[in-house]
Amino acid sequence: MQDSKILLVYYTRTGSTGKVAAWLSDELDCEMEKIIDPRGRLGLIQYLYCGFCAATRRKMDICDTRNDPSDFDLVVLGTPVWAGNMACHIRTYIDSHKGKFDKVAFFCTFESSGDERTFSEMAQLIGKDPVATLAIKTAEVKSGAFIDKADYFAAKLTNS
Ligand SMILES: Cc1cc2nc3c(=O)[nH]c(=O)nc-3n(C[C@H](O)[C@H](O)[C@H](O)COP(=O)(O)O)c2cc1C
Repeated sequence: MQDSKILLVYYTRTGSTGKVAAWLSDELDCEMEKIIDPRGRLGLIQYLYCGFCAATRRKMDICDTRNDPSDFDLVVLGTPVWAGNMACHIRTYIDSHKGKFDKVAFFCTFESSGDERTFSEMAQLIGKDPVATLAIKTAEVKSGAFIDKADYFAAKLTNS
């Protein structure tokens, strides 16, 4: 997939998914779009609310995004794992752009579990299997140990 147009879209609440997104977009030299929540979701009450909403598959409002995914050959979607699922903002994004995705790839950051189910629900919601997936633990983001895995993922995207 060399010379293809790639869009990387991600949501991050506390920065881990954002750190991986920034590394990937540099490596892939692609357009990057951060999903913004107009309300902000930090603090304990919001943590609990986010977990509840993710577990019950609710959507959360997001600010307008700049890019149309149908202008790209591949859309790479990044999310933190919330209650064993995608963040509600990624659900909103996918839902509001349904039918506009050509190829997709997914990445997530998480503490310990829920990555597989997150990817499987994202594929189900989009109606397409990803060309590649990347699951990175928060500890690997913090230590920088994610780079080998991320490098392999990026190579898969550019060579597929
Ligand atoms: C509401 C909520 C629910 C979470 N649920 C899970 C979970 O089910 N499994 C897990 O391994 N980590 C879970 N986490 C941890 C995050 O996935 C992890 O810290 C992630 O790296 C955060 O990404 P961010 O810094 O980009 O927001 C949860 C975090 C939040 C805020």
